[in-house]
Amino acid sequence: MFTTARRQPGSPSMAELPDDLFAAIQSLKRELNAVILAHYYQDPDIQDVADYLGDSLGLSQQAASTNAEVIVFAGVHFMAETAKILNPDKLVLLPDLAAGCSLADSCPPEAFAAFKAAHPNHLVVSYINCTAEIKAMSDIICTSANAVQIVRQIPETQPIIFAPDRNLGRYVMQQTGRELVLWQGACIVHETFSERKLLQLKTAYPQAEVIAHPECEPILLRHAQYIGSTTALLKYAQSSTSQTFIVATEPGIIHQMQKQAPQKQFIPAPPLSNCACNECPHMRLNTLEKLYWAMKNRAPEITMPETTRVAALRPIQRMLAMSV
Ligand code: 13P
Ligand code: SF4
Repeated sequence: MFTTARRQPGSPSMAELPDDLFAAIQSLKRELNAVILAHYYQDPDIQDVADYLGDSLGLSQQAASTNAEVIVFAGVHFMAETAKILNPDKLVLLPDLAAGCSLADSCPPEAFAAFKAAHPNHLVVSYINCTAEIKAMSDIICTSANAVQIVRQIPETQPIIFAPDRNLGRYVMQQTGRELVLWQGACIVHETFSERKLLQLKTAYPQAEVIAHPECEPILLRHAQYIGSTTALLKYAQSSTSQTFIVATEPGIIHQMQKQAPQKQFIPAPPLSNCACNECPHMRLNTLEKLYWAMKNRAPEITMPETTRVAALRPIQRMLAMSV
């Protein structure tokens, strides 16, 4: 739905941009009483200008607790949408409205409604990487940081649908020993890694630890010494005694890994072909220039029907309550 890049109305020409974008963004932040929330997959410049940097769970917790009047969301659409669901009275800006998510796109609401109807008596646990319409049809939201913990809190006898990521779903099944009915969605970025090339890298760097995000396919995860959300991977890379890591997730996170452990070496896991397809094309639509321009214009903003927002809020609040 949000996969096509669109030129935003009134996008600046280079001549209209201030010389010091960082300073201009800081000044707009004060003027708007804004907070900039950014995901680790954003460009390094955006990471460096953010007030808070985190994984999807951390970002939604920040969105739930901020006192700022304006939330500038440097991430993808479903993340900014979650911030808006939690903050109906705040202005939520997304630098590029076309910054969608292949995983969210892989779960269209009409098809999911039929899937749900075919599995009566099932509780719906949805990964936060889905649209507000899917959240509105869900009982509990989870992220990669708390999916296992949340499923463990559900009574053993309760059948569960897990959507939309089949890889995270399989990982949760393996960790909890629970049978889940999986929606067959996936992320194009995390399914792009090549096992063959990973094994070649492991041979070249025998001391390296493979660390991976649970959105990766099981064939890749079986080579990982550590599996976790982006925040968990970052913490692990800091605390582990290893000096070299092969990182199987979007390589934007390596900027933080390198900042926090400059003496260590971080090697991005290679994609199948000789492309940059391990970079999320949606996340990378946001740029520092577009972020500045969004703050300057107070647009583009996230909006949604109030009925959808109210229905989507309930499972997000359940997640936040179950994650403390
Ligand atoms: P986390 O932020 O939960 O680590 O998930 C990564 C991701 O793919 C976000 O789109
Ligand atoms: Fe969506 Fe995958 Fe990009 Fe994350 S990395 S935003 S799951 S397409």
